[in-house]
Amino acid sequence: MHHFTPCLLWLTFGIFVASSNTTTSTCDDLSSALSDDVRFPESDLYNASISSYPFLQLQLHPTCITQPRTPQEVSTAINVLRESGCTKFAVRGGGHNANVGFNNIDDGVTIDMHLMSAVEVNKDVVRVGAGAIWQKVYDEVEKYNVSVLGGRIGVVGVAGFVTGGGISFFGPERGWACDAVVNFQVVLANGDIVDANATSRPDLFAALKGGQSNFGIVTRFDLKAFPQGPIWGGRIAFAPEADTALISAYTEFKTSKYDPYAAGWVTLRYNGTSKQTTPVSVLWYTKPEQKPGALKKITEDIGPKVFNGMQTAMPSEFARNASVVVKTSKSRTIWATTTFHISPTIMSRIHRLWKALVPKICETYAHANPTSELTFQSLAPPPRNGSHPNVMGFAENATPEKDLVFLQIIFYFGDASATEGLNNALKDFIKMFDDIAEEEGVKNKYVYLNFAAWFQEPLQGYGNESLRTLKRVARKYDPKGLFQKQLAGGFKLF
Ligand SMILES: Cc1cc2nc3c(=O)[nH]c(=O)nc-3n(C[C@H](O)[C@H](O)[C@H](O)COP(=O)(O)OP(=O)(O)OC[C@H]3O[C@@H](n4cnc5c(N)ncnc54)[C@H](O)[C@@H]3O)c2cc1C
Ligand SMILES: *[C@@H]1O[C@H](CO)[C@@H](O)[C@H](O)[C@H]1NC(C)=O
Ligand SMILES: *[C@@H]1O[C@H](CO)[C@@H](O)[C@H](O)[C@H]1NC(C)=O
Ligand SMILES: *[C@@H]1O[C@H](CO)[C@@H](O)[C@H](O)[C@H]1NC(C)=O
Ligand SMILES: *[C@@H]1O[C@H](CO)[C@@H](O)[C@H](O)[C@H]1NC(C)=O
Ligand SMILES: *[C@@H]1O[C@H](CO)[C@@H](O)[C@H](O)[C@H]1NC(C)=O
Ligand SMILES: *[C@@H]1O[C@H](CO)[C@@H](O)[C@H](O)[C@H]1NC(C)=O
Ligand SMILES: *[C@@H]1O[C@H](CO)[C@@H](O)[C@H](O)[C@H]1NC(C)=O
Ligand SMILES: *[C@@H]1O[C@H](CO)[C@@H](O)[C@H](O)[C@H]1NC(C)=O
Repeated sequence: MHHFTPCLLWLTFGIFVASSNTTTSTCDDLSSALSDDVRFPESDLYNASISSYPFLQLQLHPTCITQPRTPQEVSTAINVLRESGCTKFAVRGGGHNANVGFNNIDDGVTIDMHLMSAVEVNKDVVRVGAGAIWQKVYDEVEKYNVSVLGGRIGVVGVAGFVTGGGISFFGPERGWACDAVVNFQVVLANGDIVDANATSRPDLFAALKGGQSNFGIVTRFDLKAFPQGPIWGGRIAFAPEADTALISAYTEFKTSKYDPYAAGWVTLRYNGTSKQTTPVSVLWYTKPEQKPGALKKITEDIGPKVFNGMQTAMPSEFARNASVVVKTSKSRTIWATTTFHISPTIMSRIHRLWKALVPKICETYAHANPTSELTFQSLAPPPRNGSHPNVMGFAENATPEKDLVFLQIIFYFGDASATEGLNNALKDFIKMFDDIAEEEGVKNKYVYLNFAAWFQEPLQGYGNESLRTLKRVARKYDPKGLFQKQLAGGFKLF
């Protein structure tokens, strides 16, 4: 069944030619091995998978899509792909990474994990299939009056979120989502289904906490749960003229006493079609009986407000409501990120620059109806007190949750022809923001992987020591580089 399919034919004239139909024959092999779970173009299930990507640019067309139901089926798929010698593939969790090619592929095989989405609560550990989205997890765990460190928007996937770090409602209080994993079940390049945890394969365990798709396909996440009732929070939309006050208030929040119960972000949104600016805060206070804590300035003192959604509710409800906008407005979405140490002036300088340049950029690409967002938020604390490490590169005694701010800059737009220009605008913005930070002496090398653009290097941002560790672990568990070469997208080590 697994006949060897050569991908490149070596001709006597010394040129390589790709032999045709190799991916087609890999798909045929997958189909014989996993008959029920391979989808071909034109079928309903194929179309449903493609149209369920949240951003239009992610709707690529693979030769076939495999939708495994068990770790054994993932293992079979990996064996077929490896033995094909070269068929390119992609792995999709929730499909919410905006970078083209990270979670889908044209003319290759996409492994879509969504059928593996069981959520099982067992005392203080929640076992989550790697194809689950956070909404399903919250809905299930809240039946037991517990919560987990998950996404703040329900439609986002568990797999990409956790393996890239994961900033939750409880980030300031409880750390990164990846650090609350007690065990990853993983399919390695050789097809073995293994556990990675603090006592078994601890090197792989650490590498999966930030190293994402470089080591294997995670099939199950075992997450630490904690007792949790409702939290206070929500969205506030301010009048356009409140933009500078919002940035000052967030700067003040960051430079005042650290409050571990205050989480969330502030965003400036510029709609290039209506030419309207909307300053927004999306904040939570996870100890509702002490609200608003350090959020007072933003939630009470500044204005004018045009909408105030602050209320006490369960995380599942916040996550569900926040999903509505993402689900209903399909557009092209591109993003990039950078990180700096907070200073009294850095955020307002970055804001002023964006505000000065973004209308003109939107005007240039007016045919694509662009909207831009500039969002600022905090990182989570690193594992401390001898907790098992991740690979994000922060020392145990570092306090990035207090000292650092990361920004995300986004363009939403319609027409594909604007992609290159707006990507260049993202690159230019990141360069200019970094220049400002350098000039102030507050630049930080960390680049949050889950919001990094394809042209950025988040793994390098973890620092040389982490990068060396990651490379060593990848060589150990994937000596032939299946996940470096045949897995086409993602941030690579080699
Ligand atoms: C609307 C929205 C809200 C967000 N909110 C938050 C937030 O609150 N906090 C936060 O930290 N981030 C947030 N993010 C960023 C989010 O963490 C990333 O987009 C993340 O990639 C989403 O995970 P996914 O499974 O949906 O992604 P996918 O696009 O499916 O996967 C992302 C990457 O992970 C790899 N991958 C997927 N599954 C596996 C697997 N099983 N094993 C190995 N590798 C795998 C993929 O190959 C891909 O490279 C948000 C993003 C969006 C679009
Ligand atoms: C490729 O596969 C298609 C469909 O199976 C077939 O029609 C076509 O002849 C094949 N092409 C080559 C060059 O083998
Ligand atoms: C799937 O989508 C393609 C392209 O949009 C379309 O031609 C085809 O009819 C669809 N198939 C089904 C079964 O919906
Ligand atoms: C969860 O908490 C509610 C409210 O306190 C309580 O009524 C319910 O019995 C609890 N459920 C479980 C499974 O503990
Ligand atoms: C760690 O992996 C080993 C080996 O598979 C397993 O026996 C053990 O239960 C795992 N530990 C946790 C916490 O899951
Ligand atoms: C921008 O404004 C236009 C016109 O008011 C509106 O139709 C569109 O939905 C807005 N775009 C976004 C992304 O909010
Ligand atoms: C969710 O949306 C509904 C409907 O708009 C609203 O009534 C409810 O208060 C919202 N809940 C939260 C937590 O935002
Ligand atoms: C680490 O230890 C310090 C001092 O004992 C304690 O205050 C802190 O809460 C601990 N942090 C974590 C994350 O357990
Ligand atoms: C990290 O490695 C790069 C490239 O090898 C080197 O240029 C740089 O100086 C190193 N940085 C540190 C802090 O060691």
